[in-house]
Amino acid sequence: MSAIKYILPVLAAGRLALAVSCNDTVTISSQSDADDYASCTTIRADVTLSESISGDISLSGIEQITGSLSCTGASNLTSLTAASLNTIGDKFTLNGLTTLSALTMADLTSVGSIDWEALPNLQTLSFTAGVSTADSVIITNTGLTTLDGISLETVGEFSITDNTALTTVNVNELKNATSLINFAGNDNSLEVDFPNLGTGTNMTFRNVSSVLVPSLTTLSGELGFWGNTFKKFSAPNLTTTGDLVFDDNPDLTNISMPVLTTVNGGFEIIVNDKLSVISFPDLETVTGAVDFSGEFDTVSLPSLKEVKGGFNVQSTGNFTCSAFKSLRAAGAIKGTYTCKANAADPTTSDGSSGTGSSSNTTSTSSASATSSGAAVANLVANVPAMGAAAVFGALMQFAL
Ligand SMILES: *[C@@H]1O[C@H](CO)[C@@H](O)[C@H](O)[C@H]1NC(C)=O
Ligand SMILES: *[C@@H]1O[C@H](CO)[C@@H](O)[C@H](O)[C@H]1NC(C)=O
Ligand SMILES: *[C@@H]1O[C@H](CO)[C@@H](O)[C@H](O)[C@H]1NC(C)=O
Ligand SMILES: *[C@@H]1O[C@H](CO)[C@@H](O)[C@H](O)[C@H]1NC(C)=O
Ligand SMILES: *[C@@H]1O[C@H](CO)[C@@H](O)[C@H](O)[C@H]1NC(C)=O
Ligand SMILES: *[C@@H]1O[C@H](CO)[C@@H](O)[C@H](O)[C@H]1NC(C)=O
Ligand SMILES: *[C@@H]1O[C@H](CO)[C@@H](O)[C@H](O)[C@H]1NC(C)=O
Ligand SMILES: *[C@@H]1O[C@H](CO)[C@@H](O)[C@H](O)[C@H]1NC(C)=O
Ligand SMILES: *[C@@H]1O[C@H](CO)[C@@H](O)[C@H](O)[C@H]1NC(C)=O
Repeated sequence: MSAIKYILPVLAAGRLALAVSCNDTVTISSQSDADDYASCTTIRADVTLSESISGDISLSGIEQITGSLSCTGASNLTSLTAASLNTIGDKFTLNGLTTLSALTMADLTSVGSIDWEALPNLQTLSFTAGVSTADSVIITNTGLTTLDGISLETVGEFSITDNTALTTVNVNELKNATSLINFAGNDNSLEVDFPNLGTGTNMTFRNVSSVLVPSLTTLSGELGFWGNTFKKFSAPNLTTTGDLVFDDNPDLTNISMPVLTTVNGGFEIIVNDKLSVISFPDLETVTGAVDFSGEFDTVSLPSLKEVKGGFNVQSTGNFTCSAFKSLRAAGAIKGTYTCKANAADPTTSDGSSGTGSSSNTTSTSSASATSSGAAVANLVANVPAMGAAAVFGALMQFAL
């Protein structure tokens, strides 16, 4: 009896001394591997869960991983719990975990970056504290229905694509987005809410049913909407943006941007068949081209002072061109000028159809470079959801 009493601690200690360094790269292939690291409050290295790991895995005891936490291809991993983990210093990568259905990290608040892909059975996150800091969050092709548990206060790139069950996203704490925010290919009923976002860089949305940005005042880059199902879009406090694009939003009836004064780039409103009124009461300056084409009956830009690029406004509707003709005559519209009301086949500046009902859809156009230089959105509209970076690259080329 006393023999057992002594032998057990010795064995345990021997195993610890042999197996564990909290400072070296860690590979975990089983629950017993994970248990070996329970005494490491901080792991100063990368932690990899191997492809062969399976079942329910718990990383207990670990509070911080200064490196990355990653798991790729472990199709038999059904749940992952790290009850006391609060920080992952580098990347948190999960890829191809096709049976993962629970991710439980109650204390996790800070992550270098989140990069999750192909987690079709992961429907919710059990992140009680909530991740408030991440340099980037990229989540694609998961079963998530909400992003509750990701309560970002700061983020760089935020790209949420092809999550076909995702219906609501509310990033309540985010005030300043420092890189691209992109939504595409998620559930068509997805509602995206950024109640407190004041400033951002680029924001692009495809296939969403609502976007709320009540506090947004300034974007240094592009604001773009393609193939969304919302009826209205409103940015009540937005004064300045880069390229501004509404392309092929079939239910859109109302765009409300009452204090928008400056578009630092191209301004494109095309193929939004139900949009009958285009009205931007405070818009003064467009540094690129204006390209509006569709079935609208009113174009009201009473404050417009300068369009540095071209001006192409064509509609099946009976709007009036006279104000623009005067601006053109006064030299305020610098590039090529076209204004056509009651047009049978309104076209965009690159010649593709401006309406969805026409036989010409907005398929590829060779984007003949005009001296006006800024009607970029047609290029963007035809690339797959994920290709934003490539598109921006292409645009740069186009610009050169
Ligand atoms: C692990 O790294 C920390 C910080 O660099 C250091 O203080 C500690 O002594 C290291 N431990 C071992 C066992 O090397
Ligand atoms: C998952 O389990 C199945 C059945 O045991 C096995 O054939 C397969 O190789 C496992 N997958 C991985 C990635 O280990
Ligand atoms: C947003 O964050 C960036 C980078 O941290 C900073 O340069 C910028 O001043 C911030 N903008 C506002 C309005 O806080
Ligand atoms: C934002 O969009 C512009 C083009 O409108 C592009 O030049 C820039 O690289 C984009 N930035 C990011 C962070 O996506
Ligand atoms: C919009 O701007 C006004 C005036 O600056 C401000 O009072 C109001 O709080 C802003 N609204 C939101 C939702 O941020
Ligand atoms: C998403 O929007 C694009 C247009 O940008 C459209 O081509 C595509 O069919 C839409 N996807 C779904 C699932 O509706
Ligand atoms: C569009 O919506 C805004 C804000 O809700 C409203 O003030 C405006 O009258 C609407 N415009 C049209 C043409 O319905
Ligand atoms: C267009 O509207 C003007 C008045 O704004 C009117 O005189 C003209 O007849 C209308 N044309 C068509 C084709 O409806
Ligand atoms: C369709 O596109 C072709 C080539 O771009 C153009 O010549 C033709 O006028 C367009 N027709 C319509 C109905 O937009």
